[in-house]
Formats: sequence, C-alpha cells, structure tokens
Amino acid sequence: MTCIQLFLYVYISLYSLTDWLVLTTCQREFHIINKALNWTEAQTYCRQKFTDQATIENDEEISKYRDKTLADSWIGLLSKINWMWSDGLTGSGAEYRNWETSDDEPDFISASQYCVLIGDNGKWWDYDCKTEFPFICYKGKTYCVSF
Ligand SMILES: *[C@@H]1O[C@H](CO)[C@@H](O)[C@H](O)[C@H]1NC(C)=O
Repeated sequence: MTCIQLFLYVYISLYSLTDWLVLTTCQREFHIINKALNWTEAQTYCRQKFTDQATIENDEEISKYRDKTLADSWIGLLSKINWMWSDGLTGSGAEYRNWETSDDEPDFISASQYCVLIGDNGKWWDYDCKTEFPFICYKGKTYCVSF
C-alpha cells in the first residue's frame, strides 16, 4: 500500500466505526429501565444501581437512544432555576439540547414541567416531574470525549 492508500484505509475504517468510537471514548453505557417511576425516584434508582441518570452530550448519543427507546423516558436533565444535569456535568457537552421544536419545547406548561423526557424520535420535552415514566441510566464516566 502506498502512503495515501493506507491513509484512506485508516480514515474509512475509523469513519465506519464512529458509533463504536463514540461509545468507547465516552466510556459509559446506557441502560433503559422499563419501569415507570417519577423523576426523583428514577434518579435514586440510577444512582443506586448505575452511575446516574443519563446525560446526553451530542447527536451520536441521541441516535443510539432512538434505536432502543420505545417509550418516552426520563433523562437526567431538570430545571430549578437553570437547566442542570443530575450528574452535575458542566462545560461544553453539558450545553447540548435537542428540544422538540415543533411543539415549542421547553414550554414549562402550568409552571410544573421541570424534568426532561426523550421521545421516541429522540427529541426532548419538559414534563411534570411527578409523572411516572421509564427512564435511562448510565454507567461509567461523566465526561465524554467525542470525535
Ligand atoms: C416521587 O415519588 C415519591 C414516592 O411516592 C415521592 O416521595 C416524591 O415526592 C415524588 N417526586 C416528585 C417529584 O413528585
């Protein structure tokens, strides 16, 4: 192989392994818990059995959920005064949002929607934290380095 062929080979191999790379560089795995709990109970459950409720930092992560999430599920985002992640993540990845814009989310209906659901299309909705839904936990590192 010439140098350029080798380069292309490596490049194409890496490209086709993008999902795997993102997964390993995040060093965390997601667990969809098919058990309906309110947001706070889901947080307790995730912290006891895994690391915390799911933090989502990019679109690659969203697409992984989309394949696997059959029902609306809680993720680890809530608002008190500002939006914050259950695991305390701050910084650039922590700012990622994927709101359902067709419904003007987040809309804080009735001033009682402070917790975030991911829908089956991968978009996010704010919803009343008291409502019971399946939820997503993660296990592994808080920080995710993506390529
Ligand atoms: C969730 O349920 C628990 C147990 O019933 C309750 O103590 C808690 O206040 C609920 N959380 C919310 C946000 O309503």
